[in-house]
Amino acid sequence: MITEAALTPEIRMRPVTEDDAAALLDAYVRNQSHLKRWEPRRNAAFYTLEGQAARLKTMVERQRAEELAAWLLFDGDRVVGAATLNSVVYGPFRNASLGYWLDAGYTGRGLATRAAREALRAADEDLNLHRVEASTLPDNVASRRVLAKVGFVQIGSAPNYLHIDGAWQDCLIFQTILNDRPAL
Ligand SMILES: CC(C)(COP(=O)(O)OP(=O)(O)OC[C@H]1O[C@@H](n2cnc3c(N)ncnc32)[C@H](O)[C@@H]1OP(=O)(O)O)[C@@H](O)C(=O)NCCC(=O)NCCS
Repeated sequence: MITEAALTPEIRMRPVTEDDAAALLDAYVRNQSHLKRWEPRRNAAFYTLEGQAARLKTMVERQRAEELAAWLLFDGDRVVGAATLNSVVYGPFRNASLGYWLDAGYTGRGLATRAAREALRAADEDLNLHRVEASTLPDNVASRRVLAKVGFVQIGSAPNYLHIDGAWQDCLIFQTILNDRPAL
């Protein structure tokens, strides 16, 4: 079970709910050009209320099934970022994959670093995972810096790894080991 956290006196991070569609849509519309270079291409439905509602419904279901942990960052009622632990698996792997983005008007204040740190704390203490992985495009300097600040180390690079901004792109692969607790 993941929880809410205050990242600063103004910015809080809380688990997504099915009621967040309008605020999330507004954030994606505001940040379309800011995120384009670093994200998968979005279809037309993504930029509709129905599309975001359907997306959130699936996310909440996956969250209940412990396959995903997703937070939104809020400044008041405004969504200004997100952090997600995707592909959560248990058994001997106990692993998840971390992703995040910040509203263009909120970058450069350490918020992604705080959000990533809180997601890692939750992965360790709330979800009882062992390892978190992340990947970035090689030229995503800000994201590489965030990963370094929260303790990720690069473990490799993967050619043709993710379909980002309309093309299969090479990525750098990072991991952090959270603890050495036994898997069972
Ligand atoms: C990557 C991203 C999440 C970083 O968010 P943020 O809140 O600005 O990150 P932080 O402020 O916590 O840390 C950013 C760090 O990168 C550094 N940085 C940012 N741009 C940089 C640049 N062009 N060159 C060198 N360093 C840079 C900052 O100085 C800071 O490091 P510091 O604390 O040592 O000074 C944000 O830029 C974003 O949303 N980008 C688009 C989506 C994206 O790339 N998501 C990640 C996909 S892997």
